[in-house]
Amino acid sequence: MGVILEVKDLKLGFSKKPVLEGVSFNINEGEVFSLVGESGEGKTLLCLSLTKLLPKDTYYSGEVNFYLPDKKINLLNLSGEELRKFRGTKISYIFQESLASLNPFLRIGYQIEEVLIYHKKFSKKPAYLKSLELLKSVGFKNSQRVYLSFPHQISGGEAQRVMIAMALASEPHLLICDEPTSNLDLTVQLQILKLLKAKQQELGFSILFVTHDLSLVEKFSKKLAILHQGRIVEEGETENIFRNPQTGYTRQLLNSVFKL
Ligand SMILES: Nc1ncnc2c1ncn2[C@@H]1O[C@H](COP(=O)(O)OP(=O)(O)O)[C@@H](O)[C@H]1O
Ligand SMILES: [Mg+2]
Repeated sequence: MGVILEVKDLKLGFSKKPVLEGVSFNINEGEVFSLVGESGEGKTLLCLSLTKLLPKDTYYSGEVNFYLPDKKINLLNLSGEELRKFRGTKISYIFQESLASLNPFLRIGYQIEEVLIYHKKFSKKPAYLKSLELLKSVGFKNSQRVYLSFPHQISGGEAQRVMIAMALASEPHLLICDEPTSNLDLTVQLQILKLLKAKQQELGFSILFVTHDLSLVEKFSKKLAILHQGRIVEEGETENIFRNPQTGYTRQLLNSVFKL
């Protein structure tokens, strides 16, 4: 298993507010890597920085190396069209607010087709068929209904399934999931995580799973890093960290999980 993404001494923040102060980690091919941190620790900025989607006034330094079979590319050095190509094809995102990231005026099916047509060069009819197939593959029995729906006609859990279908449409090497289930009821959360894991295992892409909720990680990913005050304070096999945390901060997080 080779490395697919290498984050090296990533620093970023705003003029009066440093957020990340030197973050390094690697994600391997076909691996689920969890990054856990409390609200405000910079998780979302970190996710965005990986494909340079940062707000204009953010400073940043370090390296984000993406490994292709024949070379590595520091994404922080790319710009414009090169970067857009990367975002749509090699790296996809699923965010917390799926309903907000869907266009309210366009039918769901059309939005999935756009990904296929723009990034995968599908023509209209195959894109239509592939969209239905993708919707089926994320658990919609009546994929035609969802295809024809507008975003306000589906639930939060359904929206998250739609986002997964859209992400899969571009056949990413790395899927970045930023709190993908934080707005959902617990049972729906677990269904979505199960779906993500099943797709990951079926298709073999890597996942960066970002959450404030340590309790979701135990079953979901073998690797775990804890982000605190701009740095990774602990990293390793999830099982080992749960059994034998090395820092007081991790112990504190674990205690609050087990108290629930
Ligand atoms: N556009 C921005 N301008 C100024 N500060 C920001 C901006 N976006 C985020 N921040 C600050 O950066 C910190 C990290 O934010 P974020 O990455 O959203 O944290 P998390 O996802 O871990 O909750 C927070 O303190 C937040 O207030
Ligand atoms: Mg966030």
